[in-house]
Amino acid sequence: MKRSVTAPKNTKILSDSPSDSDRAGAILLDGGLVAFPTETVYGLGADARNGLAVASVYEAKGRPSFNPLIVHVPSIEAARALVEVSDVAERLASAFWPGALTLVLPLKAESGISKLVTAGLETLAIRVPSHALAQDLLMRAGVPVAAPSANPSGRVSPTQAQHVIAGLDGKIDAVVDGGRCTVGIESTIISLAGDPTLLRTGGIPVEAIEACICAPLTRQEHAETPSAPGQLASHYAPKGTVRLNADTVEGGETLLGFGPVDAEINLSPSGDLIEAAANLFQCLHQLDQMGAEHIAVSPIPTHDLGAAINDRLNRAAAPRD
Ligand code: TXA
Ligand code: MG
Repeated sequence: MKRSVTAPKNTKILSDSPSDSDRAGAILLDGGLVAFPTETVYGLGADARNGLAVASVYEAKGRPSFNPLIVHVPSIEAARALVEVSDVAERLASAFWPGALTLVLPLKAESGISKLVTAGLETLAIRVPSHALAQDLLMRAGVPVAAPSANPSGRVSPTQAQHVIAGLDGKIDAVVDGGRCTVGIESTIISLAGDPTLLRTGGIPVEAIEACICAPLTRQEHAETPSAPGQLASHYAPKGTVRLNADTVEGGETLLGFGPVDAEINLSPSGDLIEAAANLFQCLHQLDQMGAEHIAVSPIPTHDLGAAINDRLNRAAAPRD
């Protein structure tokens, strides 16, 4: 069957001015796609109640399967209209919202969220971002906003507006330029549909979450494409090959350093994991721009934000089809 071809869009770059913020909100309400900064990475936003708008998110990203999306709201009060907030959810939300934590919670029947957002599941992944421009956009739009990371499927997530343009120019209506994302790595995803379960490491360390709920999390970190593990393995991929835990650099390789090593591109010369997370995707984009064909990565500790950094790098290093 012939697929309809979506006409190229004239992607606008919007600033943080009130008039541009108005435009961004109006585009969302009109069913358009607006990329916007969050503290983690840039999201590609659509009105979560509008099935056509959500379908065009999948189309713009070239996302092969209808993997459920995270819905963004400005406050826990707004979240309560969409999901059942349990006591544990309440505790996590008051500790980490607004911020880099996504909670998977039972969806309310009257939520109005498009089934394309949840891929038909009875749960919803929801988060309250802290970024001022994200907050502003969510308040202006006044609707729940579904937003995956604003990159073509399988590629490196964007932490600057120009990364969004490099990947999605002509496929989305606008990007709100809010400079660099401070956390730089996606949100941590915890499911509270059953026992508290870690679905994705991210910007809030697992250690902090376990301390907050005074219990260990069940681990199930393969939820990104539960039905297609092969596709899941390769993700966050730069164009070059990636070799991890490299203590030496071989011929033809460019080193992505961590700590006091001799590397032009270094995630954190002082070995700081927070700085390394903030720089990770920016460095991978930079390596793409340099045309690096073979990337060697220094060893990175696996505690705290190191868990999320190693997770993303493992996927970047996974064999590709
Ligand atoms: O930091 C972030 O989380 C960014 C910013 C834009 O908020 N968003 C993001 O979205 O990383 P995305 O689509 O790239 O990742 C969403 C993840 C997917 O792995 C998806 O499988 C999972 O959330 N997910 C969404 N809804 C779910 C649900 N109901 N149950 C389990 N996993 C879910
Ligand atoms: Mg993503």
